[in-house]
Amino acid sequence: MDLRTRALAALITPDPADKVAQVLTLQASASQLGLDCESTLVPAASLPGRPAKPELIAATDVPHRSPFTPLGLAALLHAICHIEFNAINLALDAVWRFPVMPEAYYRDWLRVAAEEAYHFSLLRDHLAELGFAYGDFAAHDGLWEMCEKTQGDITARMALVPRTLEARGLDATPQIQAKLRKVGTPHALQTVAELDIILRDEVGHVAVGNHWYRWLCERDGLDPVAHYATLLTQHSAPRLKAPINVAARRAAGFTEIELGLLGQS
Ligand SMILES: [Fe+2]
Ligand SMILES: [Fe+2]
Repeated sequence: MDLRTRALAALITPDPADKVAQVLTLQASASQLGLDCESTLVPAASLPGRPAKPELIAATDVPHRSPFTPLGLAALLHAICHIEFNAINLALDAVWRFPVMPEAYYRDWLRVAAEEAYHFSLLRDHLAELGFAYGDFAAHDGLWEMCEKTQGDITARMALVPRTLEARGLDATPQIQAKLRKVGTPHALQTVAELDIILRDEVGHVAVGNHWYRWLCERDGLDPVAHYATLLTQHSAPRLKAPINVAARRAAGFTEIELGLLGQS
C-alpha cells in the first residue's frame, strides 16, 4: 500500500492507540514508501474511525467546568485530548482525500498527523495520571464537521481547517495557560508545559495550512485575502474571538494585511 492508502487505513481505524501506532509507523517509514499522488481513493468504511466513547453532543451542551477543581481540570485535559484526536483525523484526511497535489503536500500533512498523534498521547497519558481515560467525558464534533463541509474543495479545507480552526488554537492556548497558572497545582502546571509543546507545533501546522492555501490560490488565480472572505461566508465558518495571538500568527505566516483584517472581524 502506498502512503495515501495507508493514511486512509489509519483514518478508518477506530481504536485510538492503534491509530496512533499506525500514524507513527507510517511517518517513520514514509521515505521508503511509494507515494501515488494521482489516484482518487474511496474509503471502505465511514469516516472517521473513532471509538464508541466519547459521546458526541452539541457544542452548546458541553458543560462548563472550572479548572480550579480536579474534575474540571480533567475535563479540560479531556477536551484538548479530543481536539488532538480529531486533529490526527483531519491531517490524515488531508493526505488521502485530495489527489494531484505535489509530493511535499502529502509529506507535510503526514508529519502533522504524527505530531497530532504525539499531542494526543501526551494528554491521554496525563489524563490517566488523574484517573481518567479518553472517552470519559462527552465531547463535540465541530472540527470534523468542518472537515466534512470542505471535503469537495481542497482550497476551502486549507482555508478553514488549519488556517481558521487550528489558528484559533494559537489564540486560545495562552489564555488557557494563564488560567492554569492561577490554578497552580502540579497537574495544572504540567498541563501548561504540555500546552507549550502543543503551541510550538501548532504554529507549524498553521504554517503548513498557509503555505498550501497560498499555493492553491496562486495555481487557480485567486486572491488569497478576498477568496478567504468568500469561503468564510460560504461555509459559515466561526468568526474570530479576540484577543488574537499576533506573534504566533505572524510566525505561522499570516501577512500584515491578513492580521489587520482579523483584528476587525
Ligand atoms: Fe495538536
Ligand atoms: Fe495541529
